[in-house]
Amino acid sequence: MPLFDVYPLYNVTPVKGKDIFVYDDKGIEYLDLYGGHAVISIGHSHPNYVNAITNQVSSLGFYSNAIQNPIQVELAKRLEEVSACKGYQLFLCNSGAEANENALKLASFKTNKSRVIAFNNGFHGRTSAAVAVTDNPSINAPINQQHKVTFLELNDIDGVKKELEKGDVCAVILEFIQGVGGLDQGTSDFFEKVDALCKANNTFFIADEVQSGYGRSGKFFAFQHYNVTPDVISIAKGMGNGFPVGGILIHPKIEAKYGMLGTTFGGNHLACAAGLAVINTLVEEQLIKNVNFISNYFISEASKIPQIKNVKGRGLMLGLEFDFDVSELRKNLIYQHHIFTGGASNKKLIRILPPLTITKVHVDAFFVALKNALLNF
Ligand SMILES: Cc1ncc(COP(=O)(O)O)c(C=O)c1O
Repeated sequence: MPLFDVYPLYNVTPVKGKDIFVYDDKGIEYLDLYGGHAVISIGHSHPNYVNAITNQVSSLGFYSNAIQNPIQVELAKRLEEVSACKGYQLFLCNSGAEANENALKLASFKTNKSRVIAFNNGFHGRTSAAVAVTDNPSINAPINQQHKVTFLELNDIDGVKKELEKGDVCAVILEFIQGVGGLDQGTSDFFEKVDALCKANNTFFIADEVQSGYGRSGKFFAFQHYNVTPDVISIAKGMGNGFPVGGILIHPKIEAKYGMLGTTFGGNHLACAAGLAVINTLVEEQLIKNVNFISNYFISEASKIPQIKNVKGRGLMLGLEFDFDVSELRKNLIYQHHIFTGGASNKKLIRILPPLTITKVHVDAFFVALKNALLNF
């Protein structure tokens, strides 16, 4: 049976990973500055992670959400402590899109409204409501287009105010640092006014932290760089370091009701064991401190390269902007220099999303390779 051919593939077959490196079937080592799309947080095959998953699967890999699961409770406790989201409640699911789907559904249930405000260039996933609030018509099928969504320009606070005052908006959803769209960020003033307007208009403020969360921005959550209190925070990617797990953090004022949300696989024993290993390792190895340290170093090294016109983003969610389409440059980095980087909707941008364990040595290796690769462009 052929695979449904939806992914354009690079001709590399990774078979092994160790910290910041992956190794292909020919034994070639690749420096991973892409982290499998911002997923690898504590490094490939971290021993804590391998041990936690191995031990868990050898005792109990899965049972449904109809029984007591102390590992879920422990994960929620650690997440509350480490994220400093005091009193928030946790609902676990399996991916970023599913997290946003549940966040939007919860907003609609609780406000009894259905229109959503989302932003140009935003990406929130591919399930029904999540893709409808994603600014990309080519991935929205007719069935998704039935959702009521209004897209606005980032920083258009007058537009947000005007739409919220119509009274039918259940949620405003945004990324504090846009990922797929190309690392654009709103201003503090904008985010803080959106927060206040949501509170004044019985509208949920949903922070999509699927990519920016778990330390990648230099704080546990990117919204914590601002004075805002989201009603729902969606998480996935770095949370599981590759194990499929997602979730939403739900403000203490929002009451649960049996049956309101649910999933078969979400919060299963293995996912929670993986999630606990990630969060404990993040703390033990002070990885958020490392994110800030390496981010500053990376940005200062990038500023020495004249072809880089702009460095966007924050923490280890960075974009290097050139004045030409970078797809051939990225291919050159993979095939000639064995370095993975990420692309974005902005074709002139290389995205840097490494494991949070990256050190200066790796950054230096990247810039030596980049300078070399740029000789051909
Ligand atoms: C900000 C953001 N939200 C949601 C998603 C969707 O996550 P998933 O692919 O796990 O469904 C992504 C994926 O790239 C993302 O970057």
